[in-house]
Amino acid sequence: MLAAYAARIDPDDPLSGLEIGDRPAPEPPDGWAVVTVRAASLNHHDLWSLRGVGLPADRLPMILGCDAAGLDEDGNEVVVHAVISDPAWRGDETFDPKRSLLSERFQGALAEQVAVPRANLVPKPAGLSFEEAACLPTAWLTAYRMLFTRGGVVPGQTVLVQGAGGGVATALIVLAKAAGVRVWATSRSAEKRARAVALGADQAFEPGARLPARVDAVMETVGKATWSHSAKSLKPGGVIVVSGATSGEPSAAELTRIFFLQLSVVGSTMGTRDELERLIAFCTTTGVRPVIDATMPLAEARAGFEAMAAGDLVGKIVFSV
Ligand SMILES: NC(=O)c1ccc[n+]([C@@H]2O[C@H](COP(=O)([O-])OP(=O)(O)OC[C@H]3O[C@@H](n4cnc5c(N)ncnc54)[C@H](OP(=O)(O)O)[C@@H]3O)[C@@H](O)[C@H]2O)c1
Repeated sequence: MLAAYAARIDPDDPLSGLEIGDRPAPEPPDGWAVVTVRAASLNHHDLWSLRGVGLPADRLPMILGCDAAGLDEDGNEVVVHAVISDPAWRGDETFDPKRSLLSERFQGALAEQVAVPRANLVPKPAGLSFEEAACLPTAWLTAYRMLFTRGGVVPGQTVLVQGAGGGVATALIVLAKAAGVRVWATSRSAEKRARAVALGADQAFEPGARLPARVDAVMETVGKATWSHSAKSLKPGGVIVVSGATSGEPSAAELTRIFFLQLSVVGSTMGTRDELERLIAFCTTTGVRPVIDATMPLAEARAGFEAMAAGDLVGKIVFSV
C-alpha cells in the first residue's frame, strides 16, 4: 500500500529520510482494527520523527503520521485516537508511562491503511468531512486539553497564543474564541497575524510586543523564541501551558518572575479518548471547524512536509488517501 515513511534519520536534513512508496499492509493483533484511511494530517511530530526525536533508527522503516479518519472494517466512519496505551492501563491514557503515539512504536497513519486498538476508534459525525476529522486527533486535541483541562481557562479570561500560524496554535485561537475567551496572538509574519485575526483572535502582535494588558494564561508551543515574553505577559498567579518547543529550549528559565508572581508552568501532552469525543462534540455544537492550509494527495506528501519545514503554514496540511 502507498505510505509516507521514515527510511532514514537525519537530525539536520530531516526530509532526506522521507520516502513516499510501497509498504506492507498492516497485520493487526487481536483486539486491533484496520482502518481504511480516507484522510490523514501532518504534524510537526512527523518532522521530529525524521530528525530521530522519539524514533530510534532501529525501528525503521516507520510509516509516519499520528492522525487519520476513515472507515473501520464494518464501514463505519471513524476518527483514530493516536495515543496507544498499555492494554493494562486504566485512567488518563496520557499519564501511562508505556504510552506511545502512532508512528513511534506502531506504524503510523500516513498510509492507505492503519491498525490501532479497537478502543482507539471514535465515531466521526457526518457533519465533519474526513479531511476536517483528520486534523483533530493531535493538534486540535492538544489545543483542547491545553486550554480547558490543563490550563483551566474559562469564558471571560484573556489568553495569549504564541506562534499563531501552527496547527496547534490555530486550533487554540479557534477553540478559545468559540468558548468566550479573549484571544491575543503573536506571529513572525504580518500575513499570519492578519490570518490570526480573521480566525477569531481579538488582536495579533509581533513576537515580544508589549501587550495592552497582562493575560490570565499563555499557550506555548514555540519555546526559546517566545518563552521570556510568555512569562512577562502573565498576570500574577497566571499560567503558562506548554506542549512544545519548536524553536528549542529557552535559554532563560525566568525563575525569579515565576516565583515572585506565583506563576504556574503546566505541561500538556495530546489528550484522552474522552477529550477527543468532547472535542468532536464541541465542533458539532459550535460549528467550528479545523483550519486547513492545504489538502493534497498522499502521493504528493513531500510538498506538505517541505511547507511545514519552511514554517510556511497557517493551519493544517491534510493528505487525501
Ligand atoms: N505535547 C504534545 O502532545 C504536542 C502535540 C502537538 C504538537 N506539539 C508540539 O507543538 C509544536 C507545534 O506543533 P504544530 O504541529 O502546530 O507545528 P507547526 O504547524 O509546524 O507550527 C509551527 C509553529 O512554530 C512557530 N515557530 C516556529 N519557529 C519559530 C520561531 N523561531 N519563532 C517563533 N515561532 C516559531 C510558528 O509560528 P509563526 O510562524 O506563526 O510565528 C508555528 O506556530 C511542535 O514543536 C510540536 O512537536 C506537541
